[in-house]
Amino acid sequence: MKSLSKIWMDGKLVDWDEAKVHILTHALHYGYAVFEGIRCFPTTEGPAVFRLKEHIERFLNSAKIYRMDLRFSAKELTQACLELVRKNGVKSCYIRPIAYTGYGEMGLNPLKNKIAVAIASWEWGPYLGQKALDGGVRATISSWVRIDSRALPIQAKCAANYANSALAKMEALAAGYDEAIMLNSHGMVAEGPGENIFRVKDDILSTPPASSGILRGITRDTVIQVAQDLKIKFYRNDSTKEELYTSDELFFSGTAVGIAKIREVDGRKVGYNGFPITDKIRKLYDSIVHGKAKRYSKWLTPVSR
Ligand SMILES: Cc1ncc(COP(=O)(O)O)c(C=O)c1O
Repeated sequence: MKSLSKIWMDGKLVDWDEAKVHILTHALHYGYAVFEGIRCFPTTEGPAVFRLKEHIERFLNSAKIYRMDLRFSAKELTQACLELVRKNGVKSCYIRPIAYTGYGEMGLNPLKNKIAVAIASWEWGPYLGQKALDGGVRATISSWVRIDSRALPIQAKCAANYANSALAKMEALAAGYDEAIMLNSHGMVAEGPGENIFRVKDDILSTPPASSGILRGITRDTVIQVAQDLKIKFYRNDSTKEELYTSDELFFSGTAVGIAKIREVDGRKVGYNGFPITDKIRKLYDSIVHGKAKRYSKWLTPVSR
């Protein structure tokens, strides 16, 4: 990773190389951290952060679920993200706010530790690579079941959830695929390790409902709104893996990945007739995040403000 100039830590901008924590930081041992993944895109009017308000809201809700007192308001965190991007002086970047139990007491009661808050940013291309994005990715159904919300609150973007994601990701890579698709404990399609999933069949777009045990993605919400504006028929429904195999189109959505076509699931080709609906959505999504679709400019916060 190429270093940038600063990282925001508990209200102060510190030098990249100085942004360190103690080895006995509580969260490092017990996974008690919540975080966000946000993107800043280049637009004709300078860098702008996409759906910052919604990301900060989700961050605060994740913290609330885990009884973390962040001591910073939504307004302060929003300003901190913008100030950091300004200071680092890049046109586009990924922004990672994180709140975690700091150094203090070890043991399973996290409430004994002060919550530390940090925001880092770095330059990051599409998560699955531009080539994969253009040509589509090969996915496999994971043998790892997506975490059940009766075990861990899936709407909270907690570091601990990502151990489950990492197992699925490693399994997919080891089997020669680009990405995993995880089923929930009822055997229905949930999501990717760090992405939501959409399916097109007979010109109807669908995605698993929040009750299927998924993170309610902000890109997912964007796709849903955009599809409605494009007059694409849409519904939220559960699907089985067989329904994935027989889809006309499939794609992943997420801040890190963008909108990525899935061209194959477990050796079954998807997109025999191309990806016309995915392409339409992706084209509009790209113009929205780059500030070229004025109707959606409310979703972009200029960094320079
Ligand atoms: C498990 C999981 N699902 C879905 C998503 C997509 O969410 P978003 O579109 O808000 O980035 C993410 C990324 O944050 C994720 O980690």
